[in-house]
Amino acid sequence: DWTMGAYREEAIAKIRAQVGDKRVICGLSGGVDSSVAAVLIHEAIGDQLTCVFVDHGLLRLNEADEVVTMFRDNYNIPLIHADESDLFLGKLEGVSDPETKRKIIGGLFIDVFQKYANEIEGAEFLAQGTLYPDVIESVSFSGGPSVTIKSHHNVGGLPEKMGLKLVEPLRELFKDEVRALGRELGLPAGFIGRHPFPGPGLAIRCPGEITREKLEILRKADAVYIDQIRRHGLYDEIWQAFAAILPMRTVGVMGDGRTYDFALALRAVTSVDGMTADYYPFTHDFLGETSTRIINEVRGINRVFYDCTSKPPGTIELE
Ligand code: XMP
Repeated sequence: DWTMGAYREEAIAKIRAQVGDKRVICGLSGGVDSSVAAVLIHEAIGDQLTCVFVDHGLLRLNEADEVVTMFRDNYNIPLIHADESDLFLGKLEGVSDPETKRKIIGGLFIDVFQKYANEIEGAEFLAQGTLYPDVIESVSFSGGPSVTIKSHHNVGGLPEKMGLKLVEPLRELFKDEVRALGRELGLPAGFIGRHPFPGPGLAIRCPGEITREKLEILRKADAVYIDQIRRHGLYDEIWQAFAAILPMRTVGVMGDGRTYDFALALRAVTSVDGMTADYYPFTHDFLGETSTRIINEVRGINRVFYDCTSKPPGTIELE
């Protein structure tokens, strides 16, 4: 792609000019955006970049391993894997308000980064995979109740106390352009095609209080759902798909007995950039088969709903 080839060269030159011989820390979320940013910056400044992957305990099944393997083993990019799940889950205990969750997670992220930043000598910059839509959404919503569309580890300005300057090489790009840039940089196709995943992770797919039990059930159910989507060849047609565990238990029957387990919501949307979205029109067969598989394979779920709300008026995430 000629355009992305040119963008890549220009972006690399800008990063070198901005950073000089200083060190950069990049927070990897496991998503496409921060990964593309990291690979681009690594190409620009090599080992001056250290990536920090914070495992907040809110990742999907096997996600931490996949990210670490890709960056450390395949790319040789210096990577610190910070398992801080006890810290995050501890502070989130008993918290159910969506914006409070985001604030707690965002605050802890900054603390954790600061901790690692202090250990990396000469680190003066923090890299982020902020995209153009993040920039405009954060402006147009500012002051409103859901201000912080990406209030986790991007936009909204890092607190001064962190003492790091920002490097945001994707700030002018839309999602499809980031994917094109990722391809240009040679990232694996399967990785680039991954659906977006929010910084606060499963926290906002677990409306209400977060517990380890709910997270574990959600991880398994989400994996079955995504497996269904892949088996039916639908993954690339869908912009984002995920399961959310609802804050309610419902009654069911199993054999001779009754169950009283969690209900699960399935979400899938088509979109160009996440600003607006249409719910995905799965067939009834697909939905029925998926519901049966989830209930049979995942202990703790006895009812499955499909979310047929578009955006607007809904948001993509449930919180
Ligand atoms: P909504 O739910 O606002 O989501 O329609 C639009 C897109 O943004 C993602 N999202 C977030 N990403 N931090 C993030 O990094 C957040 O707090 C956050 N909230 C939503 C969401 O997954 C979707 O792709």
